[in-house]
This record gives sequence, C-alpha cells and structure tokens, in this order.
Amino acid sequence: MCNLSNVDVKNKCIFVRVDFNVPIDDNGNITSFKRIDETVPTIDYLLKNGAKIILCSHLGRPKGQKVESLSLYPVFKYLENIYGSNVVLWANDTIGGTVDKIKSKMKSGQILLLENVRFYKQEEDCDKDFAINLAKGVDIFVDEAFAVSHRKSASNYGISQILPSYEGFLMQKEKKSLCLNDKKKPILAILGGAKVSDKIKLISNLIDKVDYIFVGGAMAFTFLKALGKNVGKSIVEDECLELAKEIMNKAKNSNVDFILPKDVVVSTSVDNENNATMKNVEDISSVDMGLDIGEQTILELKKYIEKAQTIFWNGPLGVYTNKAFENGTKQIAISLAKCSAYTIVGGGDSVDAIEKYNLEEKINFVSTGGGASLKYIQNN
Ligand code: 3PG
Repeated sequence: MCNLSNVDVKNKCIFVRVDFNVPIDDNGNITSFKRIDETVPTIDYLLKNGAKIILCSHLGRPKGQKVESLSLYPVFKYLENIYGSNVVLWANDTIGGTVDKIKSKMKSGQILLLENVRFYKQEEDCDKDFAINLAKGVDIFVDEAFAVSHRKSASNYGISQILPSYEGFLMQKEKKSLCLNDKKKPILAILGGAKVSDKIKLISNLIDKVDYIFVGGAMAFTFLKALGKNVGKSIVEDECLELAKEIMNKAKNSNVDFILPKDVVVSTSVDNENNATMKNVEDISSVDMGLDIGEQTILELKKYIEKAQTIFWNGPLGVYTNKAFENGTKQIAISLAKCSAYTIVGGGDSVDAIEKYNLEEKINFVSTGGGASLKYIQNN
C-alpha cells in the first residue's frame, strides 16, 4: 500500500478504517483514549488538505447484532469535543440510505463517524457486496487500523480491493517501530503471559532476530518442565513440551541466550495471597503454583536490560492484577522506563501494565495492537 502523503486528497471523500475498539465502562465512559488519539495526525492531515473523511471502526465482538452497549456513539462525543459539532457528524448506521444521504451532503473539512461496522455480519465474513456498499461515494481508502490488521474483514481487506488504497500515519509508525530488523543490537525480547501455544511461532521467529530471550509468566513453567524440573501445580501445556525443547535447542544453536526464571513466587492458588513465598525453581513442591518471578530472576533480567540496545516486551511476568504477584511485572516495567535502550511494548496485557504504572510516556513505543503486534513481529 502507498504512502498517504503522496496523494492529492483535496475535495476527495476518504474512507479511513480506524481501530476505535476502546475500553468503555458500564456508564458508557471511554477509559483509554490511546487508540483514538493516535489517529489524530492522519485526521488532521486529511482535514488540513481539504478532504471529506469517513471514519469506520468496530467495537467489541457484537457478531452481526446491533448491541447498544457496543455503539460508537461515545467515540463520536469524544471526537466532537476535539473538532467541534460543525466538523464531526454521526451516522446511526454503517451503510444504507441515511449514511448515503449524509455522505452526499458532506463538505470538505468534515468528518463522518459510522456506527460499529461489526453490527453487520458481512464485515467479518469479508463480504464483497458489503465492501462495495462501504465504498459507495468514496474516492480513496486509508488503512489506519493497525490493531485489526491481522483480521481479513470487509472494511480493511475487502475495501482495499475496490479503491485506491493508502496507509495512514499510525499504520506506518506501528510497522516501522515493530520491525526489529533495523534496530540496534544487542536486542532483548522479554516474553510473558500464560499460553506457550499462542506464542510458539513468535518465540521461534524471535530467535532469528534477537540476542537474548527471557521467558517469564506462566509460560516459563512449560519450559522449566521440559527441562525436567518439578513445577507443582503451575500452569503447563503438556502438549507443548517437545516444542519447548526444540525452541531451547534452536536458541542454543543460534547462540541466543534463552533465560528462564531461577526463582519464583509461589502459593497454593492464585487466590491465596497470604501464602505467597519465594522459592528457587529447584525447590518447587507438588502443592506450589508459580505466580510471579522472584528477586534473583529480576536482578538477572535487569542486567540484560542494562546490556541491551533494543528491548521488546510482550506479556506480563506474573499475575500482575493481584498485588501479591505483581512485583516482577512492575519492577521490569520500571526498569524499561528507566533504561537507555530503545523500548517497544506490544500486546494487550503488557500495555495495560505499562498504563497501570503510569509509565507510557517513558517507553519509546507502545503499540496500539494486541494480537496484531504479535502477528506483525512474528511475520516480519
Ligand atoms: C484488538 O482489540 O485487538 C483489535 O481491535 C481486534 O479486535 P478483535 O480481536 O475482536 O478482532
């Protein structure tokens, strides 16, 4: 797809696919504006250059039903606040008569926000006729929705097959920032989270790009078990044990330091905070469940953080939503914020942790993508 700066948008109708899949609380208040704010440079650029803008997004997973709590109306109110009510228009639908009428009356310098595109089942089916409908009266498609770029839907892939298509500035920034190939070495990848099976391809691919890989979170226990350690009641994916061995062998053959926790915080269950104890991984007993990385491990990881020139972090290192098991995630988030390396954080929970500890400003790049950022790193 071509660069948006290379096209004349004056008086043109531009369909911009954004990802405004933002968290909204029970009172209808948006609790993180990041995904909206990050699209402002593209919207401003198009407005300044005299375009008519149609913004299209999904919110949640309504599965083709009109779900009131998943309306994009709160996003419309937020945009209206930024740009004013003369500029931002709201369509109570995504396609059809009402939308066509508003589109035909729009002037340059106006923005129309469409209702949640996933209220139509055809969106996720990547239905061609639906994409044609979305493209009605539109001159150019701009893909600004990095966070949903791993899905093939009518409003991203489908419409790009119909209209001249360009990448928005956020899309370009995400791709450039997440590409590890041109980053300074040594590169450290810090990976956490629960499921090895979700990240096998990512870990294997990262071995070809980075110098050190640290694996924490529940995932670490599958690797520790593959090394023959007793991991007690910790979460393990037994079907991944062979793969875990293969990955560790691949790392060894590629001269990549593959670092696992030396000590962990254990308890009898995730709800039992009072019994939290730090143990060497050699001493885990059959009633123990590993729920965080330990102090010795944190110290070792901090040494790698100091050595690295680029650091990519995906996935929490313990059950960070629970006070007794958040220390590893919190300490590492703070170390990343303080270190001199170029820091990249991608993936829902690690981004959430960075926001929880108010460190967003101190990280070089925080991706708007969850699954999309993993998929991108995996394939590029
Ligand atoms: C996300 O939040 O990761 C994106 O908006 C994609 O949403 P989805 O997983 O519902 O497709």
